[in-house]
Amino acid sequence: MAKKHILVTGGAGFIGSHMVDRLLKDGHNITVLDNLSTGSKNNIPKNVNFIKGDTSNPKDVEKAFEKKPDVVFQIAGCASTITSFSNPLSDIYANFIGTVNIVKKCVEANVDRFLYASSMTTYGHVKEIPVKETHPCVPISYYGITKYAAERFVHATGIRPDLKTKLNVTSFRMFNVYGPRQSLTNPYQGVMAIFIGNVLRHEPIKIFGDGKQSRDFVYIEDVVNAWIGSIDKEKTFGQVYNLGFGKDRSIIELTNTIMETLGNDPKKYKMSFHKERPGDQRHMQASITKLGNDLGWKPKYDLQKGLEKTIEWAKTVK
Ligand code: NAD
Ligand code: UD1
Repeated sequence: MAKKHILVTGGAGFIGSHMVDRLLKDGHNITVLDNLSTGSKNNIPKNVNFIKGDTSNPKDVEKAFEKKPDVVFQIAGCASTITSFSNPLSDIYANFIGTVNIVKKCVEANVDRFLYASSMTTYGHVKEIPVKETHPCVPISYYGITKYAAERFVHATGIRPDLKTKLNVTSFRMFNVYGPRQSLTNPYQGVMAIFIGNVLRHEPIKIFGDGKQSRDFVYIEDVVNAWIGSIDKEKTFGQVYNLGFGKDRSIIELTNTIMETLGNDPKKYKMSFHKERPGDQRHMQASITKLGNDLGWKPKYDLQKGLEKTIEWAKTVK
């Protein structure tokens, strides 16, 4: 692939920083726009043009486009379903207005390639799993609403016939992404890292609801491969893809696997059950056929393999 200048919003966070690492390795020039609300400057390598700023602030967005990017990865956003209920406006600013500002600037600057971090929460409760991209989207969390509104804004722009330069857009409805750098201490980040942190610190595990709800856990390296592979792949232009592993696991099953992998007996481990949280989807599993067909992509990390890599990293975190 020809070397490009790529703007990664949210590049100081969990998913964004892995994208940055891989893009640098592939020889691209990178600009990161991040407000460091949950991300960390430690995740940003020195040879990156880092702009501390907010996607919902047009002046900050302007700075990020001073040198025109060839490609934009729109990853910045609030990732927590729970904080979307405690602070819905902040979700609207970060996830919706932030994405609108970045898309608008892409149009003004004649950028022609745009990839968006969408979410499986756009579906809400589903009639059957594995869920296909053609399933209706009726989000049940405030978070899912902002992710879906932004996704529609991206794709409505992608089909505009009046633009001087066509914006080729691709959205990935990512399922539950996990791996190194996901916070082991923040109760509002992904459940896998929360539970690993709990077990490593010998703390009790909190389960919301009956623990029978299921999620499709996909390892970060598989996610990065899908995004990078699609940059130049015309077949993916204008498309929305599920990005999961393709298998569902209940939350109880997940706790058992984590405990066993860390040498604990699940029957003896202290767990407490709490009221189900708002916006919590029941069962989720991705159909990954569309992405497989269009990109030739296949996940390489099953849960055990991805979990072992994540634990290996977690043990090095002070
Ligand atoms: P994260 O919190 O680690 O990363 C988000 C990054 O965006 C952080 O660095 C944060 O500081 C930055 N940020 C937040 N709001 C910003 C704003 N308004 N302007 C600039 N920077 C801002 O979370 P993550 O898990 O890496 O999620 C990244 C993106 O992927 C989010 O948009 C999330 O909705 C989406 N997503 C995540 C998952 C998942 O399983 N983690 C699944 C589907 C979609
Ligand atoms: C997660 C992501 C979201 C993404 C979505 C797509 C985070 C914080 N959220 O949402 O960005 O769009 O996947 O798949 O990364 N749970 C417990 N105990 C805990 C924490 C969670 O039982 O301590 C339960 C939750 O109630 C939920 C499940 O685990 O049923 C998963 O929760 P969580 O990791 O917060 O993610 P999602 O809401 O699925």
